[in-house]
Amino acid sequence: MASILELRAVKAFYGQSEVVHGIDVAVEEGGMTVLLGANGAGKTTTLRAICGLVKSEGEILFAGERLDRRTTEAIAGLGVAHVPEGRGTFVGLTVEENLRLGGYTRLSAARENIQRMYGYFPILAQRRRQQAGALSGGEQQMLAMARALMMSPRLLVLDEPSFGLAPRIVEDIFTIIERIRQEEKVSVLLVEQNASLALELADHAYLLETGYIVTSGSAKTLADDPQIRRSYLGY
Ligand SMILES: Nc1ncnc2c1ncn2[C@@H]1O[C@H](COP(=O)(O)OP(=O)(O)O)[C@@H](O)[C@H]1O
Ligand SMILES: [Mg+2]
Repeated sequence: MASILELRAVKAFYGQSEVVHGIDVAVEEGGMTVLLGANGAGKTTTLRAICGLVKSEGEILFAGERLDRRTTEAIAGLGVAHVPEGRGTFVGLTVEENLRLGGYTRLSAARENIQRMYGYFPILAQRRRQQAGALSGGEQQMLAMARALMMSPRLLVLDEPSFGLAPRIVEDIFTIIERIRQEEKVSVLLVEQNASLALELADHAYLLETGYIVTSGSAKTLADDPQIRRSYLGY
């Protein structure tokens, strides 16, 4: 199957400091790829490199276009939607105002998109007039994903959507991600510390350690790997 996103020998930097050391990663069109790894491994930085938020070297190819050398806005405009760590919603705005900001489209189209998002996330419809800052952690994650989906991206980049959420909420969130992937025909690149759930849903997986890919393969292969099981799955 064809890749929608391909990283070739990608390095990423904070100033002079290189924290991702030449990695190769591919996301199949319509698929879900997960990037696993301990705290500090470079997962967030890799996503930031894709989205043009940190300095990078190497090639980042998205649907035949080079993303490296483009601005963050241009990358978003090509159809890459990033839901960052910590979610990045506007806490002082209402749920619906947040969704309108994610729109990038005509008013009528924005209205339709908002209704589509309320279909995936009914709780957000109930909370539409509430300030985003007053939402629970799970609701904020849903709002952040809904905002990202407003522009009908081709690739959804999610940084630890389960972070800080109760297990039951995490399951809800992952169920919705899987439904959205199928119904929106969007490809997903997921960063997760919750390896067991992520490996159930993803087709491909990469394990990042201190800025290097140390293992990669089908999610099933990684889920069966004794070392991965011991270090990341806990059984
Ligand atoms: N803004 C930053 N400035 C300098 N170094 C950073 C910054 N953010 C992260 N780092 C460093 O880069 C490395 C990778 O971090 P990160 O990509 O956030 O890891 P992960 O998301 O896998 O936990 C870590 O050593 C971290 O300390
Ligand atoms: Mg991170």
